[in-house]
Amino acid sequence: MGFDVEKIRAEFPILTTEMRGRRLTYLDSAASAQKPRAVIDAMSDFYSDHYANIHRGVYQLSAEATAEYEAVRTRVAKFIGARDPREIVFVRNATEAINLVVRTWGEENIGKGDEIVLTVMEHHANIVPWQMLASRRGATIRVAEINDAGVLDVEHLTSLFSSRTKLLALAHVSNALGTINPVAELVSLARERGIVTLVDGAQAIPHQPVDVGALDCDFYAFSGHKVFGPSGAGVLHGRLSLLEAMPPFLGGGDMIESVTFEGTTFAPVPQKFEAGTPDIASVIGLGAAIDYLDQIGMDEISAYEHELLLYATDRLQKVPGLRILGMAPEKAAVLSFVLSSAHPHDIGTVLDGEGIAVRAGHHCAQPLMKRMGVPATARASFAFYNTRDEIDRLTDALIKTAKLFA
Ligand code: ALA
Repeated sequence: MGFDVEKIRAEFPILTTEMRGRRLTYLDSAASAQKPRAVIDAMSDFYSDHYANIHRGVYQLSAEATAEYEAVRTRVAKFIGARDPREIVFVRNATEAINLVVRTWGEENIGKGDEIVLTVMEHHANIVPWQMLASRRGATIRVAEINDAGVLDVEHLTSLFSSRTKLLALAHVSNALGTINPVAELVSLARERGIVTLVDGAQAIPHQPVDVGALDCDFYAFSGHKVFGPSGAGVLHGRLSLLEAMPPFLGGGDMIESVTFEGTTFAPVPQKFEAGTPDIASVIGLGAAIDYLDQIGMDEISAYEHELLLYATDRLQKVPGLRILGMAPEKAAVLSFVLSSAHPHDIGTVLDGEGIAVRAGHHCAQPLMKRMGVPATARASFAFYNTRDEIDRLTDALIKTAKLFA
């Protein structure tokens, strides 16, 4: 049986709602993905019938909540090919995951004169925390270039490696261009030189199978809300030996082994990094999202979205005055574009009037916008619940926009 997109759409309640008097066309999944009924129900059931704090109670309800929460850790580990569930740290989102690494591994391992290699296509979440660290520690940020199609210049990136390079941090998939970076190759080149690697996987996890074991990176970060789960739960995957050597991030309850006023000893990983009561229900929801994706199959999702991307690229290229930014051969279902006649915010506003949701702006990637020579773009980002019909609606609305501003 082929990919039954109508059956899938029926499982996302919000996709049947109306916006501006028309059926909602949601093309902003790179900002945050919509949620299937399975996720909404899992969270509602948890709050209705199973809720208690975790890791604390001796009573049955707490023990069950703990078991459910920890079962999600095991499910996440399997979903991303981690070697051990202890390598999965629950955080709020990819931003927090990166900040955790900066504040723990970074503070201990990056010193004066050391170098951090990033790419020009990074999201601000994978730039600003490293910049803040570099300025505290007297380290230097070096930035790998891309070509005009938005493809990472691997030769330039590796030419930046020096005896002082401590870290390579890069996006698996660019949120603004959709470029899929050759992460396995780059991690291997970095590892040969003893350079630690962090991959921002926020935009990869929703679109393709990810196997952190095969990538062999040291850290991999993603957000639950972009992978059809709730906001408030994200994941840091870390190599166990590194996590064990790192100091804690936040101090408080649940991350300790014993506390006296003379001194505190810390819990083993991953609890060492999970201070305080976490967003328990969101972790449960993330587990349901992963089960849901597993049922459909990430290979099937990836193949369907690739078809959508090719179709949308072809249709949009026919809109007068439209230019697509990012034409990498290896690309996820993200389409950034500009119109010669209209500012991206005007495009976003006209599309909104047609019930079409896209993001317009710098996409938290200002250095990339500068490199591409634009202040902003409009961005349509697709998920497996989008259809060719929606792409036709987008194309028609863009033709209308182009005429309106001509
Ligand atoms: N990082 C998200 C985006 O690309 C918010 O829209």
